[in-house]
Amino acid sequence: MIRINENFLKLQASYLFSTIAKRVNDFQSQNPETEIIKLGIGDATRALPAACIAALHSSVDEMAADTSFRGYGPEQGYPFLREKIAQHDFQARNVDIAADEIFISDGAKCDTGNFQEILSTDISFAVPDPVYPVYVDTNVMAGRTGEFENGRYQNITYLECTKENNFIPDLPRSPVDLIYLCFPNNPTGATISKADLAKWVDYARKNKSLILFDAAYEAFIQDEELPHSIYEIPGAKEVAVEFRSFSKTAGFTGTRCAFTVVPKACKAYDSKGAQQSLHALWNRRHSTKFNGVSYPVQRAAEAVYSEAGKKQVAEIIAYYMKNAARIRQEMDLLGLDCVGGRNSPYIWIDAKGDSWDLFDNLLNNAGVVCTPGAGFGTCGNQYIRLSAFNSFENVEKAMNRISRALKK
Ligand code: MLT
Repeated sequence: MIRINENFLKLQASYLFSTIAKRVNDFQSQNPETEIIKLGIGDATRALPAACIAALHSSVDEMAADTSFRGYGPEQGYPFLREKIAQHDFQARNVDIAADEIFISDGAKCDTGNFQEILSTDISFAVPDPVYPVYVDTNVMAGRTGEFENGRYQNITYLECTKENNFIPDLPRSPVDLIYLCFPNNPTGATISKADLAKWVDYARKNKSLILFDAAYEAFIQDEELPHSIYEIPGAKEVAVEFRSFSKTAGFTGTRCAFTVVPKACKAYDSKGAQQSLHALWNRRHSTKFNGVSYPVQRAAEAVYSEAGKKQVAEIIAYYMKNAARIRQEMDLLGLDCVGGRNSPYIWIDAKGDSWDLFDNLLNNAGVVCTPGAGFGTCGNQYIRLSAFNSFENVEKAMNRISRALKK
């Protein structure tokens, strides 16, 4: 008899953003005349940088001739892209990451979700609350948790991120083996200083733990003091894996390209306590289960690092940050406390009530989609997240509509 992985039955009915999409679609079909403005999922709306488009065109042309055609590429990614990343994203910041420590993939969602697969199923782990649901759900699927009760899974250490701790989690009270951190944070938009991040690196070194550091939003950092990479902290290479993406940086949400950094020095252990190489294990997993990102897309990602590409990316980020500032301004006018939006495309707003109620209110009365904080964990019950990914005109319109709806 074929049987299922019953861990999947512990999951909530559907993935957060699928639930929201369904509610929005239902609303739209009942209200076809409403022009809905989406400030929910963080999906890019600006066109790809011109440098990326040019690279796509020329690499597609290469595929058109037998002499320049490319078949299977290296699963880890082409050296031309891995080298550019190592040089521009790390070495330029005095961070010693080598090209062969970088694994190109089709998304940080997949990588943050898949990485746990090379770790033992009986390790303990901690996630911030609120949290990007992928970290939790993939561990549920792997069987590392108990049942879902009162909004939380058993066997997860939840690190509460609240106004009181400036949305930066405190170190766990009892040791955990695996820790997920995300800065600039999704969903709160909060950032972490080098000094605070160093506390986590020290913690991981003392406890032989591993940090999975999601830096998908680093390109939005404006404050020069903030770390873009966990490897800016001395000793982090031994205890941290970092995830990055071109999705939010350069509008690749539909084009798909990301990467994961697994330093060769990064330590993990087998059941006898002997040290094992995470780099070797991830390489083994990646080359078995992943065929690589397409050649034209890797060429497009490479173009992000050209002089023109850098300038165009900076313009796109500045555009979204202007939206973020406008959202913050309106929330201030409405007297709603918020965090984020200064070094991140997300604004986390104290809804002063149930987050799904405010979601419904904004959808029904303003035609604006937000993300209800409850979908990110119990600490989000009273918050909503607005995303800066849209046109400035739509953000302006959405702010006016929200203002009218909330003043009623
Ligand atoms: C979000 O809105 O949280 C992100 O767009 C989701 C993702 O990147 O998968």
